[in-house]
Amino acid sequence: MKRSCPSTTRLVPAGSSRREFMALAAASIASPSLAAKREALSLSAAARAAGLSFGSSIAAEALEFRSYGRLFASEAGVVTTDYALKFDALRPTPDRIEFGQADDLLDFATRHGLMFRGHALIWNENAPDWLKRRPASEIGRILDSHIDQVVGRYAGRVQSWDVVNEPFWPDHGSPGGFRRGPWFDALGPAYVARAFRRAAAADRRAKLVLNEAFTERDDTLGRNVRTRLLALVTELKQAGVPLHVVGLQGHLQPQYAADDQAFLAFLEALAKLDVEIYITELDCDDIAFPDDVATRDRMVAERYESFLTTVLKVPAVKMVVTWQLSDRFSWYRSREVMEARHMKRAPRPLPFDDLLEAKPARDAMLRAFASRQV
Ligand code: XIL
Repeated sequence: MKRSCPSTTRLVPAGSSRREFMALAAASIASPSLAAKREALSLSAAARAAGLSFGSSIAAEALEFRSYGRLFASEAGVVTTDYALKFDALRPTPDRIEFGQADDLLDFATRHGLMFRGHALIWNENAPDWLKRRPASEIGRILDSHIDQVVGRYAGRVQSWDVVNEPFWPDHGSPGGFRRGPWFDALGPAYVARAFRRAAAADRRAKLVLNEAFTERDDTLGRNVRTRLLALVTELKQAGVPLHVVGLQGHLQPQYAADDQAFLAFLEALAKLDVEIYITELDCDDIAFPDDVATRDRMVAERYESFLTTVLKVPAVKMVVTWQLSDRFSWYRSREVMEARHMKRAPRPLPFDDLLEAKPARDAMLRAFASRQV
């Protein structure tokens, strides 16, 4: 059924209590005759009723598709910049900084009353060539001035910043399993605390996030990153570093081992470190699922529901963000990713399809949100 695209985010229906709202949530999902009432039940409204925020990432050019902008504004409560605020997108050359796309996304969020998350200030992965050629002695100054300029520009308007993205990559073989790149190679692990302190000085109101990948996996990589992340967060908190949130990307990859109970134990250990937890880049890689679209969509929905129902058992989890909202705009559809994985079919990792119609994963998310006891 094609969902209409209401122009504004639906709030919890006026006059209803949270219990009534949750009953509507359960009923409108379970009973097709109430499906029309699902219109009042955006993912964002269902998340709010469960005590958390829901949003998605978006690239500025996706806003050229007005229907996508309307869907985004009606379903999401948070805008995360896909790459508009990444170092290489902002600074293609040493002497220029390009804020246009980030400004457009912030304007969109402001117009629709959505929270705005900045992704990602410091990341060893997406460094432009000119930065890689700079002498190590200059890197600290570049880090400081980049954060001062970018965080300072949007101070007071950003709900949270991914200050450091993906600190670990064990395959680089560096001490402590840290991801190598211009920041780590020049400054060592200390670049992490330096970035957080600099960001806090530039905007005291934004929540500061350490964002990491792969912890959802229960294979050697996932367990390795979990252990190192717990140790790093412990060290940063003990040093008084202004770290408020740990972001776990949530790129679900069913082709690798997963154990949601083990992941739950990891989340509970993290929560004891006095941080909030955001799921920051949720999607589900369907590469290992059958070609049949209905089967694939059902399996993706099952993985969303199992993962989110588990994750939402942890009160410290305060936000769920998908990495784009519609399959049409998924990063898995990018030429670089499709070619790297020798993909012959279009991935379907998200809650809305190419025509912006709701998929089973959307109902699975609503059920998971409704399962949370707050
Ligand atoms: C992705 C973007 O969505 C793509 O458009 C880009 O080509 C590559 O990066 N983890 C992250 C995100 O933290 O920044 C990445 O985003 C996806 C993996």
